[in-house]
Amino acid sequence: MKKLIISVWACIALPLFAQRDASIRIYPEQGNQQISKHIYGQFAEHLGSCIYGGLWVGPESDIPNTQGYRTDVLNALKKLQIPNLRWPGGCFADEYHWMDGIGPRESRPKMVNTNWGGTIEDNSFGTHEFLNLCELLGCEPYISGNVGSGTVEEMAKWVEYMTSEGDSPMANLRRKNGRDKAWKVKFFGVGNESWGCGGSMRPEYYSDLYRRYATYCRNYDGNVLFKVASGASDYDYNWTETLMKQIGGRMDGISLHYYTVAGWDGSKGSATDFNTEDYYWTLGKCLEIEDVVKKHIAIMDTYDPKKNIALLVDEWGTWWDVEPGTNPGHLFQQNTMRDAFVAALTLHVFHNYTDRIKMANIAQIVNVLQSMILTKGKDMVLTPTYHVFEMYKVHQDATFLPMDLICDKEKVRDNREVPVVSASASRDSRGKIHISLANVDPRQSEHIRIDLQNVTIKSVNGRILTASSINDHNTFDSPEKVKPEVFQGAKVEKGKLSVSLPPLSIVVIEVL
Ligand code: AHR
Repeated sequence: MKKLIISVWACIALPLFAQRDASIRIYPEQGNQQISKHIYGQFAEHLGSCIYGGLWVGPESDIPNTQGYRTDVLNALKKLQIPNLRWPGGCFADEYHWMDGIGPRESRPKMVNTNWGGTIEDNSFGTHEFLNLCELLGCEPYISGNVGSGTVEEMAKWVEYMTSEGDSPMANLRRKNGRDKAWKVKFFGVGNESWGCGGSMRPEYYSDLYRRYATYCRNYDGNVLFKVASGASDYDYNWTETLMKQIGGRMDGISLHYYTVAGWDGSKGSATDFNTEDYYWTLGKCLEIEDVVKKHIAIMDTYDPKKNIALLVDEWGTWWDVEPGTNPGHLFQQNTMRDAFVAALTLHVFHNYTDRIKMANIAQIVNVLQSMILTKGKDMVLTPTYHVFEMYKVHQDATFLPMDLICDKEKVRDNREVPVVSASASRDSRGKIHISLANVDPRQSEHIRIDLQNVTIKSVNGRILTASSINDHNTFDSPEKVKPEVFQGAKVEKGKLSVSLPPLSIVVIEVL
Protein backbone atom coordinates (compact mmCIF):
# COMPACT_ATOMS: atom_id res chain seq x y z
CA MET A 1 0.00 0.00 0.00
CA LYS A 2 1.17 3.48 -0.68
CA LYS A 3 2.22 5.38 2.38
CA LEU A 4 1.76 8.98 1.44
CA ILE A 5 -1.08 10.23 3.61
CA ILE A 6 -1.61 13.94 3.61
CA SER A 7 -4.33 15.87 5.27
CA VAL A 8 -6.98 17.92 3.55
CA TRP A 9 -5.40 21.00 5.05
CA ALA A 10 -1.96 20.14 3.69
CA CYS A 11 -3.59 19.57 0.37
CA ILE A 12 -4.79 23.16 0.20
CA ALA A 13 -1.20 24.36 0.16
CA LEU A 14 -0.28 22.22 -2.84
CA PRO A 15 -0.03 23.82 -6.26
CA LEU A 16 -3.20 23.71 -8.30
CA PHE A 17 -3.44 20.62 -10.52
CA ALA A 18 -0.54 18.78 -8.95
CA GLN A 19 -0.57 15.10 -9.86
CA ARG A 20 -0.64 11.95 -7.81
CA ASP A 21 0.00 8.34 -8.84
CA ALA A 22 -2.06 5.23 -8.26
CA SER A 23 -2.01 1.70 -9.58
CA ILE A 24 -4.64 -0.95 -10.20
CA ARG A 25 -4.20 -4.64 -10.93
CA ILE A 26 -7.32 -6.37 -12.27
CA TYR A 27 -7.76 -10.16 -12.11
CA PRO A 28 -9.91 -11.00 -15.17
CA GLU A 29 -9.49 -14.76 -14.67
CA GLN A 30 -10.96 -14.60 -11.18
CA GLY A 31 -14.30 -13.09 -12.17
CA ASN A 32 -17.02 -15.53 -11.12
CA GLN A 33 -19.83 -13.38 -9.70
CA GLN A 34 -22.46 -11.43 -11.58
CA ILE A 35 -23.14 -7.84 -10.51
CA SER A 36 -26.91 -8.05 -10.13
CA LYS A 37 -28.50 -5.42 -12.33
CA HIS A 38 -30.96 -4.87 -9.49
CA ILE A 39 -28.24 -3.00 -7.56
CA TYR A 40 -29.16 -0.17 -9.95
CA GLY A 41 -32.76 -0.12 -8.70
CA GLN A 42 -34.79 3.03 -8.03
CA PHE A 43 -37.39 4.03 -5.47
CA ALA A 44 -40.59 6.04 -5.97
CA GLU A 45 -42.54 7.12 -2.90
CA HIS A 46 -45.68 9.18 -2.45
CA LEU A 47 -43.61 11.96 -0.93
CA GLY A 48 -43.42 15.59 -2.00
CA SER A 49 -43.39 15.82 -5.78
CA CYS A 50 -41.86 12.43 -6.50
CA ILE A 51 -45.10 10.99 -7.90
CA TYR A 52 -47.34 14.01 -8.48
CA GLY A 53 -45.56 16.54 -10.68
CA GLY A 54 -42.45 14.39 -10.98
CA LEU A 55 -43.55 11.15 -12.59
CA TRP A 56 -47.27 11.72 -13.01
CA VAL A 57 -49.16 14.80 -14.17
CA GLY A 58 -52.30 13.07 -15.39
CA PRO A 59 -53.58 12.80 -18.98
CA GLU A 60 -55.32 16.21 -18.82
CA SER A 61 -52.18 18.17 -17.91
CA ASP A 62 -50.70 20.79 -20.22
CA ILE A 63 -47.28 19.37 -19.37
CA PRO A 64 -46.51 17.01 -22.26
CA ASN A 65 -47.36 13.51 -21.10
CA THR A 66 -47.76 9.92 -22.23
CA GLN A 67 -50.97 8.52 -20.73
CA GLY A 68 -50.45 10.83 -17.74
CA TYR A 69 -46.70 10.20 -17.22
CA ARG A 70 -44.39 13.15 -17.94
CA THR A 71 -42.88 12.44 -21.34
CA ASP A 72 -39.58 14.23 -20.61
CA VAL A 73 -39.05 12.28 -17.37
CA LEU A 74 -40.11 9.01 -18.96
CA ASN A 75 -37.64 9.43 -21.83
CA ALA A 76 -34.79 10.37 -19.49
CA LEU A 77 -35.52 7.40 -17.21
CA LYS A 78 -35.59 4.97 -20.13
CA LYS A 79 -31.93 5.81 -20.79
CA LEU A 80 -30.98 4.54 -17.32
CA GLN A 81 -32.13 0.96 -18.04
CA ILE A 82 -33.82 0.88 -14.66
CA PRO A 83 -33.98 -2.76 -13.49
CA ASN A 84 -36.60 -2.35 -10.75
CA LEU A 85 -38.69 0.35 -9.14
CA ARG A 86 -39.78 0.22 -5.49
CA TRP A 87 -43.18 1.69 -4.59
CA PRO A 88 -45.30 3.13 -2.85
CA GLY A 89 -42.89 3.78 0.06
CA GLY A 90 -41.06 4.10 2.38
CA CYS A 91 -43.02 5.21 5.39
CA PHE A 92 -45.98 5.91 3.11
CA ALA A 93 -46.33 2.18 2.37
CA ASP A 94 -47.46 1.32 5.88
CA GLU A 95 -50.36 3.77 5.72
CA TYR A 96 -51.31 2.97 2.14
CA HIS A 97 -54.49 1.06 1.45
CA TRP A 98 -54.24 -0.13 -2.11
CA MET A 99 -57.99 -0.40 -2.70
CA ASP A 100 -58.18 3.42 -2.42
CA GLY A 101 -56.04 3.61 -5.57
CA ILE A 102 -58.06 1.54 -8.05
CA GLY A 103 -61.19 2.19 -10.09
CA PRO A 104 -62.23 5.49 -11.74
CA ARG A 105 -59.78 8.18 -10.65
CA GLU A 106 -62.45 10.77 -9.95
CA SER A 107 -64.13 8.54 -7.37
CA ARG A 108 -61.05 7.42 -5.47
CA PRO A 109 -61.06 8.50 -1.82
CA LYS A 110 -58.53 11.04 -0.58
CA MET A 111 -56.20 10.61 2.41
CA VAL A 112 -53.78 12.73 4.41
CA ASN A 113 -50.14 11.85 3.84
CA THR A 114 -49.27 12.10 7.53
CA ASN A 115 -45.64 11.10 7.11
CA TRP A 116 -44.84 13.69 4.50
CA GLY A 117 -46.08 17.17 5.26
CA GLY A 118 -49.79 16.38 5.72
CA THR A 119 -50.31 16.73 1.99
CA ILE A 120 -53.64 15.55 0.60
CA GLU A 121 -53.17 12.39 -1.43
CA ASP A 122 -55.92 11.94 -4.00
CA ASN A 123 -54.90 8.39 -4.93
CA SER A 124 -54.97 9.20 -8.64
CA PHE A 125 -51.71 7.30 -8.96
CA GLY A 126 -52.41 3.74 -7.81
CA THR A 127 -51.66 0.13 -8.65
CA HIS A 128 -52.55 0.34 -12.36
CA GLU A 129 -50.64 3.61 -12.84
CA PHE A 130 -47.57 2.17 -11.12
CA LEU A 131 -47.48 -1.21 -12.82
CA ASN A 132 -48.14 0.33 -16.23
CA LEU A 133 -45.25 2.74 -15.59
CA CYS A 134 -42.99 -0.24 -14.91
CA GLU A 135 -44.07 -1.73 -18.22
CA LEU A 136 -43.26 1.53 -20.02
CA LEU A 137 -39.84 1.67 -18.36
CA GLY A 138 -39.19 -2.05 -18.94
CA CYS A 139 -38.40 -2.57 -15.26
CA GLU A 140 -39.58 -4.98 -12.59
CA PRO A 141 -41.97 -3.66 -9.95
CA TYR A 142 -40.94 -3.97 -6.30
CA ILE A 143 -44.04 -3.52 -4.14
CA SER A 144 -43.88 -2.57 -0.45
CA GLY A 145 -46.84 -4.09 1.37
CA ASN A 146 -48.54 -2.57 4.40
CA VAL A 147 -47.86 -4.49 7.62
CA GLY A 148 -47.94 -1.49 9.98
CA SER A 149 -51.60 -0.50 9.56
CA GLY A 150 -52.92 -2.99 7.03
CA THR A 151 -54.43 -6.43 7.45
CA VAL A 152 -53.25 -9.82 6.26
CA GLU A 153 -56.38 -10.02 4.13
CA GLU A 154 -55.63 -6.68 2.46
CA MET A 155 -52.10 -7.74 1.58
CA ALA A 156 -53.20 -11.16 0.34
CA LYS A 157 -55.86 -9.60 -1.87
CA TRP A 158 -53.38 -7.10 -3.35
CA VAL A 159 -51.13 -9.95 -4.48
CA GLU A 160 -54.16 -11.73 -5.95
CA TYR A 161 -55.36 -8.54 -7.69
CA MET A 162 -52.01 -7.96 -9.36
CA THR A 163 -50.94 -11.48 -10.27
CA SER A 164 -53.89 -13.90 -10.50
CA GLU A 165 -54.95 -14.99 -13.99
CA GLY A 166 -57.84 -17.11 -12.74
CA ASP A 167 -61.57 -16.58 -12.28
CA SER A 168 -60.86 -15.23 -8.79
CA PRO A 169 -62.64 -12.29 -7.10
CA MET A 170 -59.60 -9.98 -7.18
CA ALA A 171 -58.60 -10.91 -10.75
CA ASN A 172 -62.14 -10.13 -11.84
CA LEU A 173 -62.07 -6.79 -10.03
CA ARG A 174 -58.85 -5.97 -11.90
CA ARG A 175 -60.52 -6.89 -15.18
CA LYS A 176 -63.45 -4.65 -14.31
CA ASN A 177 -60.92 -1.85 -13.78
CA GLY A 178 -59.58 -2.29 -17.29
CA ARG A 179 -56.68 -4.71 -17.04
CA ASP A 180 -57.33 -8.18 -18.35
CA LYS A 181 -53.92 -9.79 -18.10
CA ALA A 182 -52.25 -10.14 -14.72
CA TRP A 183 -48.98 -8.28 -14.22
CA LYS A 184 -45.82 -10.09 -13.24
CA VAL A 185 -44.76 -8.94 -9.79
CA LYS A 186 -41.72 -10.69 -8.39
CA PHE A 187 -40.34 -8.46 -5.64
CA PHE A 188 -42.63 -8.00 -2.66
CA GLY A 189 -41.62 -6.28 0.59
CA VAL A 190 -43.49 -7.39 3.69
CA GLY A 191 -43.51 -4.03 5.48
CA ASN A 192 -41.01 -1.16 5.57
CA GLU A 193 -38.93 0.06 8.51
CA SER A 194 -41.08 -2.01 10.85
CA TRP A 195 -38.83 -0.88 13.71
CA GLY A 196 -39.93 2.74 13.09
CA CYS A 197 -42.54 4.38 10.85
CA GLY A 198 -43.72 0.90 9.82
CA GLY A 199 -45.05 -0.01 13.27
CA SER A 200 -42.37 0.64 15.96
CA MET A 201 -42.01 -3.11 16.48
CA ARG A 202 -39.43 -5.23 18.20
CA PRO A 203 -37.63 -7.67 15.89
CA GLU A 204 -39.14 -10.71 17.63
CA TYR A 205 -42.69 -9.41 17.12
CA TYR A 206 -42.03 -8.35 13.53
CA SER A 207 -40.55 -11.77 12.76
CA ASP A 208 -43.81 -13.43 13.79
CA LEU A 209 -45.86 -10.91 11.82
CA TYR A 210 -43.66 -11.47 8.78
CA ARG A 211 -44.28 -15.21 8.99
CA ARG A 212 -48.02 -14.64 9.23
CA TYR A 213 -48.37 -12.05 6.45
CA ALA A 214 -45.96 -13.82 4.09
CA THR A 215 -47.90 -17.09 4.44
CA TYR A 216 -50.88 -15.55 2.62
CA CYS A 217 -48.89 -13.87 -0.14
CA ARG A 218 -49.52 -16.62 -2.67
CA ASN A 219 -47.84 -17.51 -5.93
CA TYR A 220 -50.53 -17.30 -8.62
CA ASP A 221 -50.33 -18.75 -12.12
CA GLY A 222 -46.58 -18.98 -12.48
CA ASN A 223 -45.86 -15.70 -10.71
CA VAL A 224 -43.29 -16.53 -8.02
CA LEU A 225 -42.86 -13.89 -5.33
CA PHE A 226 -39.46 -12.97 -3.98
CA LYS A 227 -40.42 -11.98 -0.44
CA VAL A 228 -38.36 -9.36 1.33
CA ALA A 229 -38.43 -8.87 5.09
CA SER A 230 -38.22 -5.35 6.46
CA GLY A 231 -34.62 -5.17 7.64
CA ALA A 232 -32.37 -3.08 9.79
CA SER A 233 -31.41 0.54 9.85
CA ASP A 234 -27.67 1.22 9.66
CA TYR A 235 -25.96 -0.31 12.68
CA ASP A 236 -28.86 -2.34 14.13
CA TYR A 237 -27.17 -5.74 13.89
CA ASN A 238 -29.53 -7.25 16.46
CA TRP A 239 -32.45 -6.70 14.05
CA THR A 240 -30.69 -8.70 11.32
CA GLU A 241 -29.65 -11.41 13.74
CA THR A 242 -33.17 -11.85 15.14
CA LEU A 243 -34.78 -12.01 11.68
CA MET A 244 -32.20 -14.49 10.43
CA LYS A 245 -32.91 -16.66 13.47
CA GLN A 246 -36.70 -16.32 13.56
CA ILE A 247 -37.60 -16.06 9.87
CA GLY A 248 -34.67 -17.76 8.13
CA GLY A 249 -35.52 -19.40 4.83
CA ARG A 250 -39.11 -18.11 4.85
CA MET A 251 -37.71 -14.89 3.37
CA ASP A 252 -35.87 -14.57 0.06
CA GLY A 253 -34.25 -11.32 1.08
CA ILE A 254 -33.79 -8.96 3.98
CA SER A 255 -33.45 -5.23 3.53
CA LEU A 256 -31.07 -2.66 4.96
CA HIS A 257 -31.40 1.14 4.96
CA TYR A 258 -28.31 3.31 5.05
CA TYR A 259 -28.41 7.04 4.35
CA THR A 260 -25.39 9.29 4.03
CA VAL A 261 -26.60 11.88 6.52
CA ALA A 262 -23.44 13.81 6.85
CA GLY A 263 -24.07 16.82 9.07
CA TRP A 264 -21.40 16.18 11.69
CA ASP A 265 -22.79 18.62 14.23
CA GLY A 266 -26.31 17.16 14.33
CA SER A 267 -27.71 19.07 11.35
CA LYS A 268 -28.00 17.60 7.87
CA GLY A 269 -26.36 20.55 6.15
CA SER A 270 -26.96 22.30 2.85
CA ALA A 271 -26.98 20.27 -0.34
CA THR A 272 -25.01 22.90 -2.23
CA ASP A 273 -23.27 25.18 0.28
CA PHE A 274 -20.42 23.18 1.84
CA ASN A 275 -16.65 23.31 2.05
CA THR A 276 -13.86 20.82 1.35
CA GLU A 277 -13.89 19.61 4.94
CA ASP A 278 -17.63 18.85 4.74
CA TYR A 279 -17.07 17.22 1.36
CA TYR A 280 -14.47 14.75 2.61
CA TRP A 281 -16.49 14.11 5.74
CA THR A 282 -19.45 13.13 3.55
CA LEU A 283 -17.33 10.75 1.52
CA GLY A 284 -16.03 9.18 4.73
CA LYS A 285 -19.59 8.69 5.96
CA CYS A 286 -20.63 7.26 2.62
CA LEU A 287 -17.75 4.77 2.63
CA GLU A 288 -18.72 3.64 6.13
CA ILE A 289 -21.45 1.65 4.40
CA GLU A 290 -18.79 -0.94 3.57
CA ASP A 291 -18.20 -1.72 7.24
CA VAL A 292 -21.95 -1.75 7.89
CA VAL A 293 -22.78 -4.20 5.07
CA LYS A 294 -19.81 -6.39 6.05
CA LYS A 295 -21.16 -6.74 9.58
CA HIS A 296 -24.73 -7.51 8.44
CA ILE A 297 -23.35 -10.01 5.92
CA ALA A 298 -21.22 -11.70 8.60
CA ILE A 299 -24.40 -12.30 10.64
CA MET A 300 -26.23 -13.58 7.58
CA ASP A 301 -23.31 -15.90 6.77
CA THR A 302 -23.64 -17.54 10.19
CA TYR A 303 -27.28 -18.50 9.59
CA ASP A 304 -27.15 -18.86 5.82
CA PRO A 305 -23.66 -19.91 4.74
CA LYS A 306 -24.87 -20.85 1.26
CA LYS A 307 -26.06 -17.29 0.68
CA ASN A 308 -29.61 -18.21 -0.27
CA ILE A 309 -31.01 -15.09 1.37
CA ALA A 310 -30.19 -11.83 -0.39
CA LEU A 311 -29.32 -8.52 1.24
CA LEU A 312 -31.23 -5.64 -0.36
CA VAL A 313 -30.08 -2.12 0.45
CA ASP A 314 -33.47 -0.86 -0.62
CA GLU A 315 -32.97 2.70 0.62
CA TRP A 316 -29.67 4.56 0.35
CA GLY A 317 -28.28 7.92 -0.70
CA THR A 318 -27.61 11.40 0.64
CA TRP A 319 -30.01 13.29 2.88
CA TRP A 320 -29.52 17.06 3.13
CA ASP A 321 -31.60 19.98 4.38
CA VAL A 322 -34.46 20.72 1.99
CA GLU A 323 -33.94 23.52 -0.51
CA PRO A 324 -34.69 26.88 1.14
CA GLY A 325 -38.34 27.87 0.76
CA THR A 326 -39.60 24.36 0.07
CA ASN A 327 -41.89 22.27 2.29
CA PRO A 328 -39.73 20.60 4.98
CA GLY A 329 -41.91 17.48 4.71
CA HIS A 330 -41.22 17.10 0.99
CA LEU A 331 -37.46 16.40 1.17
CA PHE A 332 -36.66 18.24 -2.05
CA GLN A 333 -32.89 18.69 -2.28
CA GLN A 334 -30.31 19.73 -4.87
CA ASN A 335 -27.61 17.40 -6.07
CA THR A 336 -23.95 18.31 -6.70
CA MET A 337 -20.73 16.61 -7.74
CA ARG A 338 -20.49 15.53 -4.10
CA ASP A 339 -23.67 13.47 -4.57
CA ALA A 340 -22.24 12.03 -7.79
CA PHE A 341 -19.23 10.75 -5.82
CA VAL A 342 -21.48 9.28 -3.12
CA ALA A 343 -23.30 7.38 -5.88
CA ALA A 344 -20.11 6.18 -7.58
CA LEU A 345 -18.36 5.10 -4.37
CA THR A 346 -21.45 3.36 -2.97
CA LEU A 347 -22.07 1.44 -6.20
CA HIS A 348 -18.43 0.29 -6.10
CA VAL A 349 -18.98 -1.02 -2.57
CA PHE A 350 -22.14 -2.88 -3.65
CA HIS A 351 -20.17 -4.50 -6.50
CA ASN A 352 -17.64 -5.80 -3.97
CA TYR A 353 -20.36 -7.77 -2.14
CA THR A 354 -22.35 -8.85 -5.14
CA ASP A 355 -22.48 -12.45 -3.90
CA ARG A 356 -24.84 -11.26 -1.13
CA ILE A 357 -26.13 -7.82 -2.17
CA LYS A 358 -28.63 -8.56 -4.90
CA MET A 359 -30.58 -5.33 -4.96
CA ALA A 360 -30.29 -1.69 -3.96
CA ASN A 361 -32.64 1.25 -4.39
CA ILE A 362 -31.37 4.79 -4.27
CA ALA A 363 -33.77 7.24 -2.62
CA GLN A 364 -35.38 8.58 -4.67
CA ILE A 365 -36.03 8.69 -8.36
CA VAL A 366 -37.48 12.22 -8.85
CA ASN A 367 -37.59 15.33 -6.63
CA VAL A 368 -36.83 13.62 -3.29
CA LEU A 369 -33.44 13.17 -1.56
CA GLN A 370 -30.68 11.97 -3.94
CA SER A 371 -32.77 12.11 -7.10
CA MET A 372 -31.97 11.30 -10.68
CA ILE A 373 -34.19 14.11 -11.89
CA LEU A 374 -35.57 17.41 -10.56
CA THR A 375 -38.66 19.04 -12.01
CA LYS A 376 -40.24 22.49 -11.70
CA GLY A 377 -43.46 22.97 -13.63
CA LYS A 378 -42.67 22.07 -17.23
CA ASP A 379 -38.90 22.09 -16.66
CA MET A 380 -36.68 19.17 -15.85
CA VAL A 381 -32.99 18.80 -15.00
CA LEU A 382 -30.83 15.71 -14.84
CA THR A 383 -28.67 15.61 -11.72
CA PRO A 384 -24.99 14.59 -11.51
CA THR A 385 -26.26 11.40 -9.83
CA TYR A 386 -28.37 10.65 -12.92
CA HIS A 387 -25.23 10.83 -15.03
CA VAL A 388 -23.40 8.35 -12.78
CA PHE A 389 -26.28 5.88 -13.08
CA GLU A 390 -26.37 6.35 -16.85
CA MET A 391 -22.59 5.89 -17.23
CA TYR A 392 -22.49 2.92 -14.83
CA LYS A 393 -25.33 0.97 -16.47
CA VAL A 394 -22.64 -1.02 -18.34
CA HIS A 395 -21.96 -2.88 -15.07
CA GLN A 396 -25.53 -4.24 -14.86
CA ASP A 397 -25.44 -8.06 -14.91
CA ALA A 398 -21.78 -8.03 -15.95
CA THR A 399 -19.18 -10.27 -14.29
CA PHE A 400 -17.43 -8.60 -11.39
CA LEU A 401 -13.64 -8.54 -11.82
CA PRO A 402 -11.64 -8.37 -8.58
CA MET A 403 -8.82 -5.83 -8.33
CA ASP A 404 -6.09 -4.45 -6.09
CA LEU A 405 -5.97 -0.69 -5.87
CA ILE A 406 -3.10 1.32 -4.41
CA CYS A 407 -3.63 5.04 -3.93
CA ASP A 408 -3.19 7.93 -1.53
CA LYS A 409 -5.66 8.68 1.23
CA GLU A 410 -6.96 11.87 2.77
CA LYS A 411 -7.50 12.22 6.49
CA VAL A 412 -10.92 13.60 7.37
CA ARG A 413 -12.54 14.63 10.65
CA ASP A 414 -12.46 11.96 13.35
CA ASN A 415 -9.27 10.54 11.82
CA ARG A 416 -11.12 8.57 9.20
CA GLU A 417 -9.38 8.09 5.88
CA VAL A 418 -10.79 8.46 2.41
CA PRO A 419 -8.87 6.84 -0.47
CA VAL A 420 -8.64 9.44 -3.24
CA VAL A 421 -9.32 6.85 -5.94
CA SER A 422 -12.22 4.43 -6.06
CA ALA A 423 -12.63 1.87 -8.84
CA SER A 424 -14.56 -1.17 -10.02
CA ALA A 425 -14.33 -3.40 -13.08
CA SER A 426 -16.61 -5.85 -14.87
CA ARG A 427 -16.81 -7.86 -18.08
CA ASP A 428 -20.10 -7.85 -19.99
CA SER A 429 -21.69 -10.68 -21.96
CA ARG A 430 -19.93 -9.51 -25.14
CA GLY A 431 -16.52 -9.68 -23.48
CA LYS A 432 -16.07 -5.93 -23.10
CA ILE A 433 -14.33 -4.83 -19.91
CA HIS A 434 -15.58 -1.67 -18.23
CA ILE A 435 -13.62 0.10 -15.53
CA SER A 436 -15.24 2.86 -13.50
CA LEU A 437 -12.86 5.22 -11.75
CA ALA A 438 -13.38 8.14 -9.42
CA ASN A 439 -10.76 10.70 -8.45
CA VAL A 440 -12.36 12.44 -5.47
CA ASP A 441 -9.51 14.94 -5.06
CA PRO A 442 -10.77 18.41 -6.03
CA ARG A 443 -7.28 19.76 -6.73
CA GLN A 444 -4.93 17.09 -7.95
CA SER A 445 -5.11 14.89 -10.98
CA GLU A 446 -4.36 11.22 -10.74
CA HIS A 447 -2.19 9.16 -13.01
CA ILE A 448 -3.27 5.52 -12.83
CA ARG A 449 -1.45 2.53 -14.29
CA ILE A 450 -3.91 -0.29 -14.84
CA ASP A 451 -2.62 -3.82 -15.28
CA LEU A 452 -5.16 -6.09 -16.95
CA GLN A 453 -2.66 -8.96 -16.95
CA ASN A 454 -3.08 -11.24 -19.96
CA VAL A 455 -5.91 -9.26 -21.60
CA THR A 456 -4.83 -7.99 -25.03
CA ILE A 457 -6.05 -4.43 -25.32
CA LYS A 458 -7.14 -3.50 -28.85
CA SER A 459 -8.74 -0.20 -28.13
CA VAL A 460 -9.96 1.94 -25.28
CA ASN A 461 -12.51 4.71 -25.03
CA GLY A 462 -14.46 6.34 -22.27
CA ARG A 463 -16.65 9.06 -20.84
CA ILE A 464 -16.01 11.50 -18.03
CA LEU A 465 -18.15 13.44 -15.57
CA THR A 466 -16.23 16.31 -14.07
CA ALA A 467 -16.66 19.84 -12.76
CA SER A 468 -14.49 22.67 -11.56
CA SER A 469 -15.95 22.73 -8.06
CA ILE A 470 -17.29 20.22 -5.54
CA ASN A 471 -20.43 22.39 -5.31
CA ASP A 472 -21.22 22.34 -9.03
CA HIS A 473 -24.74 21.24 -9.91
CA ASN A 474 -27.39 21.61 -12.58
CA THR A 475 -30.17 24.14 -12.21
CA PHE A 476 -33.28 24.96 -14.20
CA ASP A 477 -31.39 27.99 -15.57
CA SER A 478 -28.21 26.08 -16.27
CA PRO A 479 -29.26 22.44 -16.76
CA GLU A 480 -26.07 21.22 -18.44
CA LYS A 481 -23.32 22.52 -16.21
CA VAL A 482 -22.44 18.97 -15.15
CA LYS A 483 -22.78 16.37 -17.87
CA PRO A 484 -20.68 13.55 -19.32
CA GLU A 485 -18.16 14.24 -22.08
CA VAL A 486 -15.91 12.04 -24.18
CA PHE A 487 -12.84 11.03 -22.17
CA GLN A 488 -9.47 11.39 -23.92
CA GLY A 489 -7.21 10.56 -21.01
CA ALA A 490 -6.72 6.81 -21.49
CA LYS A 491 -3.99 5.25 -23.60
CA VAL A 492 -2.23 1.92 -23.97
CA GLU A 493 1.49 1.90 -23.11
CA LYS A 494 3.48 -1.31 -23.46
CA GLY A 495 0.33 -3.39 -23.12
CA LYS A 496 -0.82 -1.57 -19.98
CA LEU A 497 -3.49 1.03 -19.60
CA SER A 498 -2.41 4.44 -18.56
CA VAL A 499 -5.16 6.77 -17.39
CA SER A 500 -4.98 10.42 -16.43
CA LEU A 501 -7.93 11.42 -14.27
CA PRO A 502 -8.46 15.17 -13.85
CA PRO A 503 -9.27 16.43 -10.36
CA LEU A 504 -12.84 15.75 -9.29
CA SER A 505 -13.74 13.29 -11.99
CA ILE A 506 -15.69 10.11 -12.55
CA VAL A 507 -14.74 8.09 -15.62
CA VAL A 508 -15.99 4.90 -17.22
CA ILE A 509 -13.56 3.25 -19.60
CA GLU A 510 -14.43 0.57 -22.12
CA VAL A 511 -11.65 -1.81 -23.08
CA LEU A 512 -11.95 -3.92 -26.21
O1 AHR B 1 -36.88 8.07 1.93
C1 AHR B 1 -37.52 8.77 2.94
C2 AHR B 1 -37.87 7.88 4.11
O2 AHR B 1 -36.73 7.41 4.73
C3 AHR B 1 -38.63 6.63 3.77
O3 AHR B 1 -39.99 6.85 3.60
C4 AHR B 1 -38.38 5.77 4.97
O4 AHR B 1 -38.46 4.39 4.69
C5 AHR B 1 -37.01 6.22 5.43
O5 AHR B 1 -36.99 6.47 6.79
